[in-house]
Amino acid sequence: MDHAKRLADAGADALELNLYALATDPDTDASDVESEQIFIVRQVVESVRIPVSVKISPWHTAPANFLREVELAGAKGAVLFNRFYQPDFNLEDLDVHAQLKLSDSSELLQRLRWLAIVSPHTRLSLAASGGVHTAQDLLKAMLAGAHAVQVVSAILRHGAIAVSTLLQGLETWMRDRDYATIDQLRGALNLAHCPNAEAHERANYLQVLQSWRV
Ligand SMILES: Cc1cc2nc3c(=O)[nH]c(=O)nc-3n(C[C@H](O)[C@H](O)[C@H](O)COP(=O)(O)O)c2cc1C
Repeated sequence: MDHAKRLADAGADALELNLYALATDPDTDASDVESEQIFIVRQVVESVRIPVSVKISPWHTAPANFLREVELAGAKGAVLFNRFYQPDFNLEDLDVHAQLKLSDSSELLQRLRWLAIVSPHTRLSLAASGGVHTAQDLLKAMLAGAHAVQVVSAILRHGAIAVSTLLQGLETWMRDRDYATIDQLRGALNLAHCPNAEAHERANYLQVLQSWRV
């Protein structure tokens, strides 16, 4: 709360509250973790006047329900999802190996699914974070319902030019298809609008498996 207040006093227009909890204690159950996180959201929201966005883990059992709780706690936005640091083992020195692994576009798919599921039900401003590398990725996130995307790995790989590449690709795509505003395309493939809602669901998974040929 103290940090939140100091950031707001220093002139921040908004805050991103990054929820990062690794539940390593077997006595702690999922509802304990979530209650504590919602408590933190409420405390931070109440301690500042600026909007608070909450960055959540992809590993909630019921992300749609958790996001509703985040909204009820007073948050104005949500970021889907955190990318957790994942340690690897080094077989030479039998030690835990700290590694920095940049993402690729495949990480976006998990974000697309949950953006498409939650965006019809929420007033939260939604940001996609994780796996945005190309203008196509950016467009897919918007079509799933994102209001914004966050980009880290692409900038670390290519430098700041990655941002202009994304924006130019977005403009070209929109111009070629006569879209005047992003509002016209945002959420067009979410579960409220998608003509094939099954595409997001398990039935489609079975279909994909059945069509697999070695
Ligand atoms: C070098 C690096 C350092 C990061 N450090 C943190 C961190 O300290 N805390 C955190 O929550 N996320 C951290 N992230 C994750 C980013 O905030 C962001 O969620 C993610 O990288 C966005 O996905 P992208 O890299 O696919 O664009 C880091 C990512 C990278 C690549």
